[in-house]
Amino acid sequence: MAQQPAETVSKGELRLCARLGLDEAGTQSLLAAMRAGMSSRGAVVLTARAPEGYVPPFACENLGADWLPPRVYVPAVGEKPTSYPDYAEGFYYSLDLSSCWESACLSQVPPPASSLDMCAAPGGKTMLMAARFGGQNHTANEVHPGRRGILRQNLQQCGYPEVEVTGLRPDQWARNGKTFDLLLVDAPCSGQSLLCKGIKNPGCLSSSMVNGNAKRQKGILLSAAQCVTPGGHIVYTTCTYDPEENEKVIAYILKRVPGWYAVEVPELECFRSTLVPFPAYRLLPVHGAGAGGFCCLLRKEN
Ligand SMILES: C[S@@+](CC[C@H](N)C(=O)[O-])C[C@H]1O[C@@H](n2cnc3c(N)ncnc32)[C@H](O)[C@@H]1O
Repeated sequence: MAQQPAETVSKGELRLCARLGLDEAGTQSLLAAMRAGMSSRGAVVLTARAPEGYVPPFACENLGADWLPPRVYVPAVGEKPTSYPDYAEGFYYSLDLSSCWESACLSQVPPPASSLDMCAAPGGKTMLMAARFGGQNHTANEVHPGRRGILRQNLQQCGYPEVEVTGLRPDQWARNGKTFDLLLVDAPCSGQSLLCKGIKNPGCLSSSMVNGNAKRQKGILLSAAQCVTPGGHIVYTTCTYDPEENEKVIAYILKRVPGWYAVEVPELECFRSTLVPFPAYRLLPVHGAGAGGFCCLLRKEN
């Protein structure tokens, strides 16, 4: 029988695996996940519209994971949560499990008197925050006008009319002098994890894409740091793997901006990054909780 030709490994793939410090087995596992594109894992978060005591109408899995945020359910394999009338009613919002795990960072944050989601559309992180703390005194900001419309519509649909929707750039927030107890920065990134969901993302492994995103992320975080009250927090997240857009962005901020430190999140210990001495967390497809991403909780000293 003729042998299948071995798939060639690109320079970008090799660079990424080397930067992540993966051994041979880890490299093979990540490359296989990127090629298979099957790592998507669904989740839903209950919204303000869900009646008291509501449970979703579809079968759910019990992951038994400490990090699963409150009011988040994992539909059993084969279930399609968006096909139920309750979805159209806005009782829950559907997203990837790997967009939920980072919300465990909020377990280390006291209920904020005010909060800002700086990169909010289409609204997943705002919904997760609201599921824990409620939507009062929360601002959902999105710079892109088209995406802002979708954000507004999703918040309306899910019962959060009290959330203020804005469209300022991070540098404009930094200049306007308003501060918040909690900032969510789900930064625009190269989106390498999309490959593991079977979504084409040409160029996401290239140096120019990664470096361009890292530069933008540093700018966004520098602005975000100016918008936090003393003792307040930033949750920084991305859906990409490259340390240049993750650990290195945090290391840059910790060095550049005095008075900030990274906070341990005990529920996320199994995802702790070994690339840096401070607490930061990365999810890979091998963890079985979706396509993956990165998060770090930052606190501003009092
Ligand atoms: C990863 S997405 C946010 C997803 C959202 N947090 C959610 O959970 O549904 C990043 C968002 O940042 C916005 N964005 C792009 N460039 C930006 C910039 N320079 N500053 C702030 N936000 C930006 C994008 O339009 C996009 O909506």
